[in-house]
Amino acid sequence: MRIAIAGLGTVGAGVIRLLDTNAALIAARAGRPIEVVAVSARDRGKPRGVDISRFAWEDDMIALARRDDVDVVVELVGGADGPALACSRAALAAGKGLVTANKAMIAHHGLELAELAEGHAAPLKFEAAVAGGIPVIKGLREGTSANALTRVYGILNGTCNYILSTMERTGADFAEVLAEAQAHGYAEADPAFDIEGVDAAHKLAILAAIGFGTRLDFANVQISGITAVRSHDIAQAAALGFVIRLIGEADVEETPQGPRLLQRVRPCLVARGHPLSAVDGPTNAVVAEGNFSGRLLFQGAGAGDGPTASAVAADLIDIARDEVGAPFSIPVARLAALPPAEPGHRLARTYLRFMVKDRPGVLAELTAAMRDGDVSIESLIQQGRGDGEGAVMVAMVTHEGPEAHVARALALLEGSDSLTAPPLVLPILPL
Ligand code: NAP
Ligand code: HSE
Repeated sequence: MRIAIAGLGTVGAGVIRLLDTNAALIAARAGRPIEVVAVSARDRGKPRGVDISRFAWEDDMIALARRDDVDVVVELVGGADGPALACSRAALAAGKGLVTANKAMIAHHGLELAELAEGHAAPLKFEAAVAGGIPVIKGLREGTSANALTRVYGILNGTCNYILSTMERTGADFAEVLAEAQAHGYAEADPAFDIEGVDAAHKLAILAAIGFGTRLDFANVQISGITAVRSHDIAQAAALGFVIRLIGEADVEETPQGPRLLQRVRPCLVARGHPLSAVDGPTNAVVAEGNFSGRLLFQGAGAGDGPTASAVAADLIDIARDEVGAPFSIPVARLAALPPAEPGHRLARTYLRFMVKDRPGVLAELTAAMRDGDVSIESLIQQGRGDGEGAVMVAMVTHEGPEAHVARALALLEGSDSLTAPPLVLPILPL
């Protein structure tokens, strides 16, 4: 099977290395050799740690995708639009297979690309787009395909998990740890996608579509990232027996008006003892709950050249074996379009952190807002002593109650001149 690779960065170079190193076993398992014939990137002269002089070079990714000597195009450029999308459309329209690691492109254009693939009987596969080296798309498309999934959730961004778990272990500063994650090749070209939760939301939208048989709906993922989490929140969470993790979570809720899809990404407190609390570094973990399979946990490296290349190459082997099906498990025309769920009535315990001026009456103001919002406080702590105008931290954990009540209490505090920063709201992940 002859392939072209568009994009020769962390993942592209990793794929070439893997195909070289494991060529014989891949040929045996695929039933035929998988051979790179052409490549493309921005800068032909850039050192890449792999020999690309043996491959044809194309400056133009559309020309690469249309080459007569190519059966499958591997898109590893990144970005929802631009050359990645143009090259992917060109490959599928020419009836060639497409393998991509690009979750942004799949989250935004996955249905269009899947329709193109289905219309041209061309394989489209994107295992590496979700959770790096973990075969979770295969797990949901194939392993749990006989189940109605009730919930899919987990740690979907290696960069955020690396930042949070390293800050927890070493007390290091956010910016310093983010720079380390970038140096390891975990972060997106624009790391704001990682730390603001957008990358995890791309992946969650893809998992939800495959897991629940629904149309991709990235626009309705509720997203909050980790930029507001401070080291004192991590320390406070630890004192309470929790770690902080960025969690993506999706489920389908049956309502009198019909089924509704909830998708959200947010930092959560995870109790030590919960399987996700032990997930450290760039590791990802996905929990899928099926009505017959019960709870399944998929865990492994969520980012980095080797694990991501492993997922890309597994897709190539599936294509070489002709083991392909509808990209989203169900043909696009039959995916259900579900409206977004309103989660205000859902019950949760919540960690709330306020930075407040250290002056008489502040605690009374906070607790009055909780009382008026009908939020019951389980524990409350004030740390430090402000010097004059200096801020102190007040952290509280609520008893279980409707999410809308917490929102109502916080709305009552909006604009209060006692607060020196917006409150941080971290739900506690149920066991
Ligand atoms: P990367 O290291 O930034 O590599 C991107 C490659 O695309 C580079 O070779 C670059 O060319 C080329 N490129 C970028 N913009 C281009 C343009 N406008 N025209 C032509 N070539 C262009 O990215 P990566 O980390 O390998 O990620 C690639 C894809 O895999 C992304 O979709 C990413 O989200 C996904 N992914 C990454 C990981 C990971 O751990 N890194 C894991 C899972 C999925 P030059 O090298 O010549 O500049
Ligand atoms: N930037 C992504 C992450 C790469 O940190 O998880 C893997 O998708």
